[in-house]
Amino acid sequence: MRVGIVGAGKISAQYSDTLLAYPELPVTAVADLDPARASALADRHPGARVLDLADLCASPDVDVVLNLTTPAGHAPVALQAIKSGKHVYGEKPLAPAMDEARSMLTAADEAGVRLACAPDTVLGAGIQTALAVLDSGVIGAPHAATAFMTTPGHERWHPDPEFYYQPGGGPVLDMGPYYLTTLVHLLGPIRRVSGVSVRPHPTRTIGSGPKAGAGFPVTIDTHTTGYLEHAGGAVTTVLFSFDTWAARLPHIEVYGADGSLSVPDPNRFDGDVEIFTRSSPEWAKVSWNAGYNPGGRGTGLVDLASAVETGTPHRTGADVALHVLEVMLALTSGEVTELTTTCTVPDRAPS
Ligand SMILES: NC(=O)c1ccc[n+]([C@@H]2O[C@H](COP(=O)([O-])OP(=O)(O)OC[C@H]3O[C@@H](n4cnc5c(N)ncnc54)[C@H](O)[C@@H]3O)[C@@H](O)[C@H]2O)c1
Repeated sequence: MRVGIVGAGKISAQYSDTLLAYPELPVTAVADLDPARASALADRHPGARVLDLADLCASPDVDVVLNLTTPAGHAPVALQAIKSGKHVYGEKPLAPAMDEARSMLTAADEAGVRLACAPDTVLGAGIQTALAVLDSGVIGAPHAATAFMTTPGHERWHPDPEFYYQPGGGPVLDMGPYYLTTLVHLLGPIRRVSGVSVRPHPTRTIGSGPKAGAGFPVTIDTHTTGYLEHAGGAVTTVLFSFDTWAARLPHIEVYGADGSLSVPDPNRFDGDVEIFTRSSPEWAKVSWNAGYNPGGRGTGLVDLASAVETGTPHRTGADVALHVLEVMLALTSGEVTELTTTCTVPDRAPS
C-alpha cells in the first residue's frame, strides 16, 4: 500500500520513522501548506515527491492518504482524498464537530474506501496486555474505572501550539482520544456523559521555537472533569487538564469484583501493566503478552494495510472515532448527554 502524507509538521517524524521500517508501505508523496516542510519529509523517503494536496489525492501511486494536518484540516483533507478513491488514515480527533465527522464516514462508505483514525497506541503491547488481563477474568467483572490526564499545557514544548487552544483542541479533544478509545476497548461503548469545565487562563505564552515569548488567546475551556456511563453498566470518572502543574494520579485504573488493574499511559505503546487481586493482594507487574511490539505512531496504518489485504475490519475504525468524538463533545458541553452513537469494539490486536 503506497502512502501519501498530508501534513509534515511536528508529529510526522514519528510516522516517518515507523513507515521506514515497513518497505511494503512506501511513502510516495508528501503535501504541506509549507513546501519546505514537505520537502524535508519527502527527503527522508526515497522516491517521494512533493505535491500539492489536489495532485497528491489524484496521484495513481497513492493508495492511502495519511492525514497529519491539524484538526481543522482533518475533514476537508479526508473528504478530498476519499473523493479521489483513496483510503484515509487520519490523526485524532476525527474532526472538530460531529457533522463534519459524520460526512467523512458517509463519504467513505459511499466510495467503498477505508476510513481509519488515530490513536493506534491502543494496539501496543501496554494496552493490549491490559485488555488480555481483563479478558482472563482475573480481576472479575469490571464495574468502574478512573482516567486522569494532567499537564500544565502543550505550549511549553510545541512551537506552534495555538491550535491546542482553539475549537478542535483543548485537553479533552487533544488527549481524550487516547484515554476514551482505551476505555471503549476496556469497558465498551458509552451511553451517557456528564462534564463540567473551566478556563483559568484567557491567554497563553509560547515556550519554544521562533515564536517563543509570544502570547496568544485561549478560546476554549482547558480543564474538564466528568463521568461516563458505559452501555454495559460500568462507570468511569475522568479528568482532562491543561492547567495542572503536578498530580499524583494514575493514567487509567479498572476496578473489578476480584481486583484492580493498572493500565499504562494510553498515549504510549508500552508501559507497565499491574494487577492487585483479592487472592494476591499486592500490586504485581504483568509481562507483555499481546499487541504490536514494538509499536510506534503508524502502527494503525500497518494494521489497516493488513486488514485491507485480508478483507477484515481494521482496528482503528472510524465508528470508534466518531463515538469517542461524541463523548468528548458531550464532556465539554457542560450538560448531561444521552449519546446518539455507539461502536463495535475492535478485535484484540495480534500477539
Ligand atoms: N505534536 C504531537 O506530539 C502530536 C502527537 C500525537 C498526535 N498529534 C496530532 O497530529 C496532528 C498534527 O499535529 P502536529 O503537532 O504535527 O501539528 P503541526 O502544526 O506541527 O503540523 C501540522 C502540519 O499540517 C500542515 N497543514 C495543515 N493544514 C493543511 C492542509 N489543509 N493541507 C496541507 N497541509 C496542511 C501545516 O502546514 C503543518 O505543517 C494533530 O491532529 C495533533 O492532534 C500531534
